[in-house]
Formats: sequence, C-alpha cells, structure tokens
Amino acid sequence: MTARIQLTDAAPHQTMTLKFPEDGVTLTGRVRVPGDKSISHRSLMLGAIASGETRIQGLLLGEDPRSTAACFQAMGVTMSSLEDEWVTVQGVGLGNLQEPADVLNAGNSGTTLRLMLGLLASHPDRYFAVTGDGSLRSRPMDRVIKPLTQMGAEIWGRQNNRLAPLSVRGRSLKPIHYHSPVASAQVKSCILLAGLMTEGKTTVTEPSLSRDHSERMLRAFGADIAVDPDTCSVTVNGPATLTGQTIVVPGDISSAAFWLVAGAITPGSDLIIENVGINPTRTGILDALQMMEADITLENPREVTGEPVADLRVRHSHLKAASFSGDLIPRMIDEIPVLAVAALFAEGTTTIADAAELRVKECDRIAVMASQLTQMGARIEEHPDGLTIHGGTPLTGATVDSYNDHRVAMSLAIAALRTRGTLQIQRAEAAAVSYPGFGATLAQLCGLG
Ligand code: S3P
Repeated sequence: MTARIQLTDAAPHQTMTLKFPEDGVTLTGRVRVPGDKSISHRSLMLGAIASGETRIQGLLLGEDPRSTAACFQAMGVTMSSLEDEWVTVQGVGLGNLQEPADVLNAGNSGTTLRLMLGLLASHPDRYFAVTGDGSLRSRPMDRVIKPLTQMGAEIWGRQNNRLAPLSVRGRSLKPIHYHSPVASAQVKSCILLAGLMTEGKTTVTEPSLSRDHSERMLRAFGADIAVDPDTCSVTVNGPATLTGQTIVVPGDISSAAFWLVAGAITPGSDLIIENVGINPTRTGILDALQMMEADITLENPREVTGEPVADLRVRHSHLKAASFSGDLIPRMIDEIPVLAVAALFAEGTTTIADAAELRVKECDRIAVMASQLTQMGARIEEHPDGLTIHGGTPLTGATVDSYNDHRVAMSLAIAALRTRGTLQIQRAEAAAVSYPGFGATLAQLCGLG
C-alpha cells in the first residue's frame, strides 16, 4: 500500500505527485484555513487610505495580498511585516497616495488591480502605470475602465483600452449611477472606491448581488454607504472620511471549500473546519453541496468585526447530482472548480450554467477543468457558460496542469483523493496565491503528514 504527496521542483515550477492507498483515504480532525483573500485585500487597501493606524489579524499571507501590500508601499504607505500576528498599516489619508517611481505590479491578482484602479483614477494629476503577470494581462480591464472613464478618469491600455499594462492620469471625478452588466464585486468595489473622493452620490447597480465585503468594511471605516438590497444597488456619498480600524480576518470559505468537498467525497471522513467566514454573499458553496445532500453542519456561529463566522463540520456523504444556475452562481463563483470535482462522485448528471465569468478568471476555468478532468477519465462536457458533469466514472492517474491557476491546482489535488493510480499536477505552486501550505495540510488531514 502506498500513500504519497510529493512536491518536486522543476524550477521555476513544481509538480505535485499524489498517490493515495488503493483502499481509499479518510480525512479526519480539525483544520484552520488561511485568512479570507477578499477581506485581506480590502483591509490593506482601506487601511492604506484611511487616516490613522489600521490593525489586522489573520491576514492571508498568500501571494495576492502581498501584491496589494507592495503596491501601496510603493505609493508611500508604511506597513509592519505581513508575518506579524497583528499587521499594522499607517494610513496616509484619503487622496494622499504618492505617485510611485515605478510601475505598480499586481502580480496574479485581479482584485488588486481592479480595486486599486478606482483609487488611482481619483488622485488628481498623479500618474500611475500598472501591470500584472501573464494571466492578469490577458484579463478584461474594460469592465472597470468603462465606468471610471464615465466618471472622467483618463486610462489607457493595450488592445483598445482593454488590457494591462495600463496608464492612469488621475482626475477629479464626477459621480455616476452605473448599471453593471456583470455581478462582479471587483467592478462594484472599484467604482465605490473611486466614489470615496468624488463629491456627491456614486451608485452601482448589479444584476445580482456579488460579495459585499467592501460595503461592510467601508461603512466600518466611516464612509456614508447606502445599500438597497431590492435593486442590488450600493451608493457611496462622497467625499468620505475614513478612520483606521481593527480588523480580524476570518478564514476563507473559498479555501474551506476544498476540505468540504474532500470530506464529502472520501468514505469515513469527518472534518471540522474552524473559523470560516459565512457572509451570505459567499455561502453559495454550502447551499450547492447541501443541494447535493452533503452532510455539512454549521457550529458555533458568531460575528467577528462585522462578518459572520462559524465552524463547519463535514462528513462523508452519498452525493446526488443537482443543477446550478442564476443568482447562486456569483455566490460561489470561485468554488465552481471544486464543485465540479464533487459532481464527479455524485449519483447522476450535474449541470452548471450562467457561469461564463469563469472563462475570464485566472485561467479559462470552464475549458481547463473540463480538459484536465477528462484526462483523468471523467465524463464532462463544456458549454459556453458552464459544464455538464456525469457522476460515477472512476478516475485514473494522469499528468495534468494547473495552467498557473491556484484554484485549478487545488481542485485537481482534491480529485486525486478518489483517483486510482498516481496524479501529477504540473505548476502546482500556483496554490500559494491563496493557500500557502495547501499540500502539507492535505497530507496532514489524510494522516500522511
Ligand atoms: C473578488 C471578486 C470575484 C472573485 C475574486 C475575488 C473580490 O471576482 O472571483 O476571486 O475580492 O472582489 P469578480 O468580481 O470578477 O467576480
């Protein structure tokens, strides 16, 4: 009987080799997931532009928040080491970000680039150049450039102002009411951040509600924020006054999702994932897995600095196929790759629709999940806006690729738990974008660590 999780360097990339016992593996015990990525970005950004000190506990030490921290440090913001138990950010005050001496690099992080653009565009007469890695430079930026331009911003980019690298000349902006064609928290937050320094009411209406961490945190920092849940609209009344706050970042439900699926699909498993954020705009994965009859319970619900938190218990379950579409999709957009893995072990055929946004994430997650799982023997069909997944086909070892996408890398690793033979995941180091130490935690929960 062999059981092995190994990382081999083929610098600059790593291949993760996963081989589990033929008679199966069981995940038990308690686990804490890293801090919520969305809340980590926002706490660093709002801390940077507020007046006074912001203290943050539980910050995600992944590559994405590190990109945010580096960008704001380059604009004159002082921060303590991100490794500190309490990270401190000395806010420069609204409107006081300095013109950086070099290009700002958001790395792999769409949240860093899109949210930051709202702030840069509203710093009159300052010039900024922004870029990112190959993935980010291929992702659409016109979705934020368009509304910012309507507010009076000057932004230039490649391919007719669609792609980074971008140049920004900050301006004094005018308020708008923007009807976003997509339910995107990055678009919504970008416009709200641009509205902070803008005199009057800046409103964003979205087709269905995306994550609302910005609204919650902006209000806590002192901004005048009005939310109309009936029309999915948020208004910021500027100019705002922001004061530094103390923030405790909950565990990321997007990271917890890997263990929820791992626990649900592996016989005998019983896992508790502690301290997970359960903001209702993020809990679509709990609803989806419960629709599939997963045995998941919420324990010890509480509120921590304005965000609901609980411990999640998952036990092995006989999953049933289900259909997912509509307003549920934005509430679980980042969890769909691992939900697709759960569907492979469900009885029946699962469909996921209205999820075309997945095509413009860190990679084209519809195409990549379909092609990589197919290589493992799965029966899965790709559609323009989703997937059809036939449950019950055994998976076999193969060599697959993360396409440099953290959530693809981790989703494939979870599929390995029920794969016969050896699974090799190329470019597995992508996991560190949102979950440093993922491989070691997987080994430990399986009793191999
Ligand atoms: C995020 C919003 C989502 C999500 C991303 C984080 C955020 O993107 O996929 O991982 O922190 O605002 P969209 O706004 O593009 O849907």
